[in-house]
Order: sequence, then C-alpha cells, then structure tokens
Amino acid sequence: MAYKLLFVCLGNICRSPSAENIMNHLIKEAGLEDKIICDSAGTSSYHIGAPPDRRMSAAAAKRGIQLKGNARKLQVSDLVNFDLILAMDRENYRDILYLDREGKYEDKVTLICNFANNHSEKEVPDPYYGGQEGFDKVIDLLLDSCEGLLEHIVTSEVDRARQ
Ligand code: 4NP
Repeated sequence: MAYKLLFVCLGNICRSPSAENIMNHLIKEAGLEDKIICDSAGTSSYHIGAPPDRRMSAAAAKRGIQLKGNARKLQVSDLVNFDLILAMDRENYRDILYLDREGKYEDKVTLICNFANNHSEKEVPDPYYGGQEGFDKVIDLLLDSCEGLLEHIVTSEVDRARQ
C-alpha cells in the first residue's frame, strides 16, 4: 500500500498546495509515484474550492513547478486515512490536534520544517498578507523540507522492509 502524506495550512491556497505539488515533483523525479501519495487541506473554510493563489503559483513557476488543486477543509477522517500529516506552522499543528480529541493520532502530526536540512526556520511563514518575496521564501523552505522529507521516508521505509 502506498504511503499517504497530507500537507496542511490555514487556507489551502498558498503553502500546503505548494508543498503537495513540490513533493509530487520530487516523487516523480525519484520514480516513486506508486509508493507515495500526496494531498493537502486547510484548517479554515475561507477558500474552499479555490485554486492556488496566483502569487504562490508565480513563485512556484519560477522554480519549474506548476500548482494544481482546489482548496478543501481538513476533516477528522484525514487523521485516520493519512500516514503522516505535515503542518506548515504551529497554529496549523494545534488546529490539527484539536480534531484529535482522544490523542490517538498525535504521532502522525509534525511540522514540515523539521525535515529541512539547509534552513533553521521552524515554521513556514504565512505569506498571504505580504509581498512577493514571502512567496519566494515559502518555495525555498518547502523545496528544502520536501527533499528532507523524501529522504526520511525512503530511509525509514527501507529500514522497515529490513526488519
Ligand atoms: P495558506 O495562506 O494558509 O498558506 O493557504 C493563507 C491563505 C488565506 C488566508 C490566510 C493564509 N486568509 O486569511 O484568507
């Protein structure tokens, strides 16, 4: 069965769709499309059904990545259905765990920046009310974090297969 990743931010129109599409890009490069599946969601209902933000798509396009998808809201069932849930910031992290009333899924939830090898930031900053440089920064941080995340998954899955 494929390993299922869910990327979560507030609106699901900037950071989490970027993470999802960057990760899909890296997965394709690695030839692991059958092994790892990605999706994204927002903790708010502000932009349900909307495509990724134009400013975010422009920043991703500069790095050769096209953003696809439509915003949806995070649901309790996502906690059951996904293997690993990656929050962009601490507020997202708290809002995800708020749905986990019994604390059953806490181990599946983490901050995506924990996987970055070349950045010391702990969170992916919300770019929505800022300038274009904030969107470029999101892409930089997510490229680094997603590369680290893919290395982590590949290594831990190899370890699991050995056991
Ligand atoms: P995201 O960015 O959480 O990265 O999708 C935002 C999108 C919309 C809003 C805030 C952040 N908003 O307030 O509408």
